Amino acid sequence: MNNDAIGEKYLVAVTGASGMLFLQPFLRLLGEQDVVVHGICSDAGREVLSFEEGLNPEDLPVVSRWFDLHDISAPPASGSSGYAGMVVLPCSMGTLAAIACGLSINLIHRAADVLLKERKKLILAVRETPFNRNHLQSMLKAHDAGAIICPPMPGFYLKPKTLAEAAETFAWRLADQIGLRGMSRKRWGDTD
Ligand SMILES: Cc1cc2nc3c(=O)[nH]c(=O)nc-3n(C[C@H](O)[C@H](O)[C@H](O)COP(=O)(O)O)c2cc1C
Repeated sequence: MNNDAIGEKYLVAVTGASGMLFLQPFLRLLGEQDVVVHGICSDAGREVLSFEEGLNPEDLPVVSRWFDLHDISAPPASGSSGYAGMVVLPCSMGTLAAIACGLSINLIHRAADVLLKERKKLILAVRETPFNRNHLQSMLKAHDAGAIICPPMPGFYLKPKTLAEAAETFAWRLADQIGLRGMSRKRWGDTD
């Protein structure tokens, strides 16, 4: 059976910012849903993923298809491909700036531009510290164009005991943002 025939399609883009530990918990959440997940990884993303997690993109769970960063005729380059949402995790300042300015230099930038023009969910898990004025302006610009700026900042009020648990709390927030429902998760205010 062709897996791509079922569920909504989501795109996950990996760029060269720090924070690769958030990827696997997020992808596993997507894997619990009836959805199809495709991926694109930048050259720097590949390098940082290898450095931080010892993985290649192809080793990551749940993603059924990886597109070449420079294949500008791949499906995500067109609105007709019908992705329901895209998450850039983690999102570097360079990719943020390209998206904010509508540059389509590579397939990640083009796919993000497509999602914005189609009025679909585009979530940017931007990561840098501290931010300079350019970064802040790019975030506001991307926000005004319709993106959701969702930095990988886990909440600590649910008292995660490990880094992995903290990463999971952020993965849930991302999944909430792209509108995935039906996940059993303890939420603030739950009494049982
Ligand atoms: C180990 C490592 C960590 C990095 N962390 C960040 C980061 O947190 N944020 C960022 O904007 N760039 C970071 N960079 C720099 C980006 O990888 C670099 O700017 C790259 O050109 C981004 O390209 P891309 O947006 O196409 O992935 C890091 C680079 C390395 C090698």
